[in-house]
Amino acid sequence: FNVPVAKNEPVKSYAPGSPEREELLAVYNEMYNQEPIHVPMYIGGEEISTDNKKKLSPPHEHAKVLGHASIGDASHVEMAIDAAMKAREAWANLPWEERAAIFLKAADLLAGPFRAKMNAATMLAQSKNVFQTEIDAVCELVDFFRFNVQYMTQIYREQPESLPGTWNRLEYRPLEGFVFAITPFNFTSIAANLSAAPAMMGNVVVWKPAESQIYSAKVIMDIFKAAGLPDGVINMVTTRGSVAGEVVFNHRDFGGLHFTGSTSVFQSLWKTIGSNVHKYRSYPRIVGETGGKDFVVAHKSSNAKEVATALSRGAFEFQGQKCSAASRAYIPNNIWGDVKEYLLADLKSFKMGAPSDTSNFINAVIDEKAFDSISSYIDYVKDQPDAEIIAGGNYDKSKGYFIEPTVILTSNPKFRTMCEEIFGPVLTIYVYEADQFEETLRLVDGTSDYALTGAIFSNDRYATNLAVKLLENSAGNFYINDKPTGAVVGQQPFGGARGSGTNDKAGASLNLLRWVSARTIKETF
Ligand code: NAD
Ligand code: ALA
Repeated sequence: FNVPVAKNEPVKSYAPGSPEREELLAVYNEMYNQEPIHVPMYIGGEEISTDNKKKLSPPHEHAKVLGHASIGDASHVEMAIDAAMKAREAWANLPWEERAAIFLKAADLLAGPFRAKMNAATMLAQSKNVFQTEIDAVCELVDFFRFNVQYMTQIYREQPESLPGTWNRLEYRPLEGFVFAITPFNFTSIAANLSAAPAMMGNVVVWKPAESQIYSAKVIMDIFKAAGLPDGVINMVTTRGSVAGEVVFNHRDFGGLHFTGSTSVFQSLWKTIGSNVHKYRSYPRIVGETGGKDFVVAHKSSNAKEVATALSRGAFEFQGQKCSAASRAYIPNNIWGDVKEYLLADLKSFKMGAPSDTSNFINAVIDEKAFDSISSYIDYVKDQPDAEIIAGGNYDKSKGYFIEPTVILTSNPKFRTMCEEIFGPVLTIYVYEADQFEETLRLVDGTSDYALTGAIFSNDRYATNLAVKLLENSAGNFYINDKPTGAVVGQQPFGGARGSGTNDKAGASLNLLRWVSARTIKETF
């Protein structure tokens, strides 16, 4: 079990004049200016094309064509399952060191020769600035690969007691069928890890990326190939979710679902799996990380500037299209005036535009559907007597899907935008009487069915302790005096409960354990 000790990949600064910035901008411009590319499906090591093509465009410039993706049908999903099941025996029986070596190499390739390409692809496909892509598509993914290799060895080391004359052992076998990975648009690292984590534990995978992430998904497949992942272990099918689901969820060898996306889609998939459960060889593993309505609560003892920074960063980085993004805040009236002043000053300093200009903090939201949904919430507020927009509120989709960072102030703690996931750059604030802290904590817990992330700001240990206790079920990732975003693999295992997911903590042994089906062997001497 001698594996390299995992260390977090350092985040590069991309400061003006730095070599990484020069390289990144050169690669970005090359990818932007090249002829449109074709993204095939990757099934059993073959590149599969179809006549049904989807246009791939940057969200910040929707008239531009980056390429076209081949979109498959049910026959391609069947092909991917066949390829996976064909690869299964050899992969499952490969010694773990060989599997580990592939993912350690993938980490090195991503941290090295693929770094600029992965950043540029995510900037173009998902409209993120380089500081965000560096954290998501490079550092977090490198960390997933390296830390998961370490956690895998810790799992394998865990063995039962044996009395004299016997030898008991646990054999950590992969699941008997294949794993279906369904991934969201917003994080490239999540898209890759949802396939890589089960594969590392010896499973074969059919992966369906989100349609709006396909351009950067290609780079992930290029890295797996360059790292020496055998054909058929991870198969990428670009079909509609319902088309893939229809085939997968009726297949006898369906062994597990590794999902990240919205709560409503996950719940509908769970229902389908439940009603088909008699069709499967084994009970499938169901792992899902889903929506959030993440909160910040400040106590009267907290520092107004720190609270304001947590709100501006926590709510608006990644255009708020981050499952952990702060979207509802509870601020006591004794510090509200200062919090408001600092927050509005921060927002004034945020520039909005394409990620090619690295001074743009805010880029575009992912697509027209997201734009229309987020802007309809903003329009809704404009007509309500118990809420007002105190910053932002404008949007424009003529060139790209741009929405200003928007702050809503409400006098109603159950106002619609305090309760529903908007998944965009919209923050709602409720100001409470400073001496109503305990009542406010109960309100925080009772307002949302989600429990992904949350934060308490306080310089009073009794108040902090009360929040830790009363909000124990309100967030799978809970922060004291920090924004509720930015979990780092190896430091803050990530995942939520209630409507936010099965809480199997991505980037932790808790997640990897879901992808094994252990056999106990007792030998008597
Ligand atoms: P989404 O639910 O719309 O889509 C997620 C994936 O499911 C996509 O690949 C989509 O094509 C697929 N899908 C949709 N309908 C399907 C069906 N009927 N059968 C099979 N697959 C289907 O979510 P999204 O818009 O891509 O991502 C945003 C959501 O993801 C937000 O709710 C966000 O909170 C959540 N999210 C959660 C986490 C977390 O860790 N908890 C992380 C990232 C995103
Ligand atoms: N893991 C990411 C965060 O914590 C989503 O912000």
